[in-house]
Order: sequence, then structure tokens, then C-alpha cells
Amino acid sequence: MLKLSTKIKSILAVVVLMSILSCGINNNKKPSNDNPFESQVDSILGLMTLEEKIGQLNLPVSGDITTGQAQSSDVAKKIEEGKVGGLFNIKSVVKIKEVQKIAVEKSRLGIPLIFGMDVIHGYETTFPIPLGLSASWDMDMIKKTAQMAAQEATADGINWTFSPMVDISRDPRWGRVSEGSGEDSYLGARIAEAMVNGYQQGDLTKTHTMMSCVKHFALYGAPEAGRDYNTVDMSRIRMYNEYLYPYKAAVDAGVGSVMASFNEIDGVPATGNKWLLTDLLRDDWGFNGFVVTDYTGIHEMIAHGMGDKYDVASLALKAGVDMDMAGDSPDVNAAFVKVLKEDLDKGKVGINEIDTAVKRILTAKYQLGLFEDPYKYCDENRSKTEIFTTENKGFARKVASESMVLLKNEDNILPLKKSGTIALVGPLANSAVNMAGTWSVATKQEKSNPLLEGLKTVVGDKANILYAKGSNVDYDEEFEKRVTMFGKDIPRDDRTDKQLLGEALAIAKKSDVIVAAIGETAELSGESSSVTSLQIPQAQKDLLNALFATGKPVVLVLFTGRPLAIVDENENVPAILNVWFPGSEAGLAISDVLFGDVNPSGKLTATFPMNVGQVPIFYNHKNTGRPLGNKEGKFQKFKSNYLDVRNEPLYPFGYGLSYTTFDYSNLTLDKSSINLDGEISASIDVTNSGDYDGKEVVQLYIRDVVGSVTRPVKELKGFEKIMICLLYTSPSPRDRG
Ligand code: BGC
Repeated sequence: MLKLSTKIKSILAVVVLMSILSCGINNNKKPSNDNPFESQVDSILGLMTLEEKIGQLNLPVSGDITTGQAQSSDVAKKIEEGKVGGLFNIKSVVKIKEVQKIAVEKSRLGIPLIFGMDVIHGYETTFPIPLGLSASWDMDMIKKTAQMAAQEATADGINWTFSPMVDISRDPRWGRVSEGSGEDSYLGARIAEAMVNGYQQGDLTKTHTMMSCVKHFALYGAPEAGRDYNTVDMSRIRMYNEYLYPYKAAVDAGVGSVMASFNEIDGVPATGNKWLLTDLLRDDWGFNGFVVTDYTGIHEMIAHGMGDKYDVASLALKAGVDMDMAGDSPDVNAAFVKVLKEDLDKGKVGINEIDTAVKRILTAKYQLGLFEDPYKYCDENRSKTEIFTTENKGFARKVASESMVLLKNEDNILPLKKSGTIALVGPLANSAVNMAGTWSVATKQEKSNPLLEGLKTVVGDKANILYAKGSNVDYDEEFEKRVTMFGKDIPRDDRTDKQLLGEALAIAKKSDVIVAAIGETAELSGESSSVTSLQIPQAQKDLLNALFATGKPVVLVLFTGRPLAIVDENENVPAILNVWFPGSEAGLAISDVLFGDVNPSGKLTATFPMNVGQVPIFYNHKNTGRPLGNKEGKFQKFKSNYLDVRNEPLYPFGYGLSYTTFDYSNLTLDKSSINLDGEISASIDVTNSGDYDGKEVVQLYIRDVVGSVTRPVKELKGFEKIMICLLYTSPSPRDRG
């Protein structure tokens, strides 16, 4: 075989913003404030009663509406009375059409409803969880996932998505790290833009695009102790430099709506925080869409200690909230629809404030073209032909394989050969319903392919696949129940732990290699899924150890929605492929990577710590006045380090292996100095020096060494994902297996 090395020059330009506030002050491109629908909106407003106005601000959850029953349900009655502005998480074009009909044909003014949903990482065709998607570092591909999600969702009647979630987080205890793009705000901002552009495509009048809602504004990813919904307390300098940029990027990309977060900021809950929702969002950033609360966000301000139901509703409206999500639920009493009228009578709010919010909602409906054609998204034929198609699933398979991160590959154990006998073991190996991961409301979870199915399909009759569950998800049955809810069960096995393990060891003995499919279940991350341990559940850890002890080569296929502290596994297991939750085509995509049909190219976007005690841990930290003075990370008294564990993480941000190797050389800068707002280009030659075609993510980091305030030791300011192929004159190594 003759291999010619191929190289690519990667040129990354960076505008170096040296000022303290790198977001919000610099690069302050304000969206235009012109509203082309102003006169239409004003004329409708002029016709509305106070009740109808307040009704537009009301966003009930789909409630008891089901096909054929809509006309008799409570929500249907409210729609008819003009007391509902939109509905969310109602699935199926047939139901949506029926409900829209009530609004348009039975309510006095016939104002159409807006239909929202958590279309987070795909619709029925489901892509990897957002943390996984971000690990692809491929902005075009990420944009296309949002575009495809919009195509499917709009074909099913949905025109508004509660995505992207752009909360920066450095705390893997927080379950919602799975829903975001990791710890870096520069990368997060690029992904925010890609997603907004994918959903909206700069043109909401098209039938295939939908309005995007960036969330959770703001700082939701920094709750104390990683506990969901907990207090956030952060300095302004940290907010502006490290957390706000992705939200701002979404606003600059023209996002149509913003969701307020549950947490407090500077002692005031986001939902009632005027500084956040008006001064910053509208006055500084020029946002001119509408703001929706998160689920019962107004009501929750009572528990936060912001007053009674009248106080909190007026606080929210005055802060800049336009729409109240789920306030109309029976157990909620502080809701716009329930108290705003009295607030107006008492003089706690003015009619102008109500009108402003109503106008923003009506404008959004105009932007979506709903006044022109309320049934624009209700084409039943589209719903039959554009959702969960073979083409879409094919794309989901590709995306999933691009998101996986190869964490370890000792002695090039991977890629596997499509021959011999392979033992597939683990509670995640054959669970279709867990493959889509968290927040996959519309997914066809039972139609996702699990790894067992994927392996069998990909190897065909070339290899023999044996399967055993090996263990339950965990020894603790109660814990297992909590992490397998919402239909994402892995039925608990009646056999004893010993019997389960015995079966696994028996097939391991007959095999050439063991693939262990273990880790978290889909519901172990996501909303309200915070943890204090970052270990793989003990039952599965024990299983892995027992498999390793057989002496057979073991490949760990790690399912996870968060960075885990897998120090023991990293020490023992020769190969680790982190697959996150890969989505609809999980099994096929994992198999593609395991056998080398796809060379892994994902890079971590969130640091994997050594243990939970290192948290929060992130690459772009400051230096301190007492940095460690040795590269090996050895303990030094009176330096900033720990007695019991090194400072360095297990796997850092940006890390990920490939089946090939890349060499970097000839780093050049086009200037040796620049002004404060100057631009400098860096270029570097990247060579594929290994045996496989492969993709590499070239990452550019800078450090502002001296400043009037301290700066991080490293900051990502550019990246490019490139494919470098080998040139062959004889069969490629890929054909070996
Ligand atoms: C979540 C949001 C979500 C909303 C609607 C809330 O509990 O925090 O992210 O969009 O529910 O489903």
C-alpha cells in the first residue's frame, strides 16, 4: 500500500476583543425595531376587550384536548371565549387543525392560536441530545438538524419551538447539561446562531420554518450545587464574559422569542427581572420579539418570596414578560389570565403594559402568516410524507456518528473487525426507548434502533453477535424507577444479580471481543435529574469489572447525558466510545463507528472531571496568583491545588480521538501586533498522518496575557472542522475488516 499524506491548511481569523465586557457592549448589532405589521396589529387591538387581550397572553399546556373531544373540553371553551393565545405540546396535525378551527371559527375575533412544542433535538426523527450534537463541532450539520426538525414539526402543525437551549454550564451534576452545548460561550454562540437559522431560515413566512424560542434566559445553567431550579448568584463580569453571549447570539440571529428562566438573578427571579428582560434584552440588545415564561414561572415567584399572586403577575408584566406558560393550570393561582384584570383595577399595571404584550404576541402570529392562513401548518398530506422519512433517518444516522467521542483506544482495539464472535452486554444494549435521550417529546422512541439491532444489521452474516443484559441499571430499585420514567423503561429483570452476570460471563467466554453498553439511562439526565455522584451506577460498574476480568478485550460504549467521572473505567478498559444518547438511529450509528465505517471525530464540549469534587471544572478558568508551578500536576504546598487529586480533568474540553492521527505544523500569524479592535489571522498545516480518512476539529485559542482585569488561561476564538482523506493506490485499511 502506498500512502500519500494529505494536508490541509486551516486558516482561522480572530477578532480580538480585549475589553472587559465581550458581549452586549461590543459587536452590538441591534435587530431592527420596525414592525411591518404595526397597523394591522393596532386595528385588531382596537377591537379587543380586556378579557380577549389577557387571553392572548395565556399559554395553557395542551390539557385535556384530544381528537374529537376538543369541542367539549374546558380548554376548548376558553379558546372559544378568546381566552387562549396558544397551546403547547399538543401532537398531531389532526388535533391541531381541530383546535385551530375553534379559535378561528368560533371565537369572536377569530384570532388564530400559536402552537408550541419542545422540539429540542429533532421531531419524530431524533438527533443526538444537544450536548452530543455540540460535540460534532459541525455548524452546517447542526443547522440542518434544526431545519429538518422544523420541516417535520411544521408538517405536524407546530409553528413554534422552545429551542435552542443555550445555557452554559460547568456543572455536570446539573441534569440539564444534556440539553445545552457545554461549557464554552463562543462555541455556544455559534451553535445558537446555527439552530435559530435552521429553524427560522430568516423567513417565517415559509411553511417549512418555525419560530424559535431561545431559553432559558438567563444563567439557568449555573445553579448552586448543580441542583435544578436552584439559586444563581453571579457577578456581572462573569455574566457578560462567560454566560450571556449565546443568548445574545440568538437575538442577533433574529430569534422570534425568548423564554425566561426559573432561577433568580441578583436576587430577583428572571421572570420578574426588569433589568434582564427589558434593560438588557430589549434596550441593550434590541430584541423585539416576545418573551414567554417557563412553565408556571409567574406562580413560582410566590415561593421565591416576591409577594402574592397579584404582586407576582404585575411584577412579571412590568419586567417584560408577554406570555404566561401553564399559568392556566388548576393548581396555579398566580397567572395573567387569573389576576391581571384585578391588577389593572388596582392600578398595579397599566393598560399600556397589557397592550404592549398583546401586540408582541399578535405580531408573532402575523410573522408566522397565521392571520393570512391559520391552517398554514395543517396540511395532513405533509404530515404523512415529510415525517420520519428514510431520508431523514439516514441523516440522523450520520449526525449521530459525528457526535460520538472516542475517549480511549489502547492498541487500536477499535475499529472492530466484522468477523468472529462479539458479545454485546449491558442494560443499555437493547433498549430502543432510551436511545433518544431526554426532551424528545415527539420521538418515535419504540422505533429507534438499539445497539443490538444496529450491530446485527451492520455485520450481517459476517460475524456472530451474542447478547446478555448482564445487570439491571442499578442495584437500587427505587433509584432505577426514578431514572426510567416517562415510558423510558428498562424492565427490571427478575433474575438475581448473580444469574444476570453468569449469563454475561458465559457469552463473554465464547467471544473474541466484548462490547459493554452501559452508563446512564435517558432520564438520568435532563430536567429535574441532578445528581451528586458522577459515577456509572454501581451494578454496571461491577458488571464492567467482571467483564474486564475475563481477559477478553472490552470496548465500553458509554451512554451518558453529562460528563461522568469514569476514572476507574479509563484505567481498566482499553477502548471507550462515548455515544451520548444518539437518537433514532442510535444502534446503526454506533455500529458505523465501532466497525470504522465512520471514523469518530467528535470532541468534548464539556470537561470530564476526575471526581465530583473538582466541579465546577472548565478549561477557560483563570490563573490565580498561585498557579501550580509544574506541568505534571504534582502537588505543591501553598499553590492552588488539591491534596487528594490533581487539578487537571480526566478529559478536557476539545478532547476526542480518531482512528487516524493528525500532525500540526507551520503555525503562522499574519501580524505580530494588533490594535484593540484589530484582526489577526492564524494559519496552520494539518496533516493526516495515520491510516484512515478522518475529520479533525482545528481549534484556535487565545490568551490575553496582560489586562486591566484578569482573563482566562485559554479562550476558544475560532474552529474549523475539516476532512482530510488519504490517497491510496491499493485497498484502504478500512477494507481490512
Ligand atoms: C422546561 C422548559 C420547557 C417547558 C415546556 C419546562 O419545564 O424548563 O425547558 O420548554 O417546560 O415544556
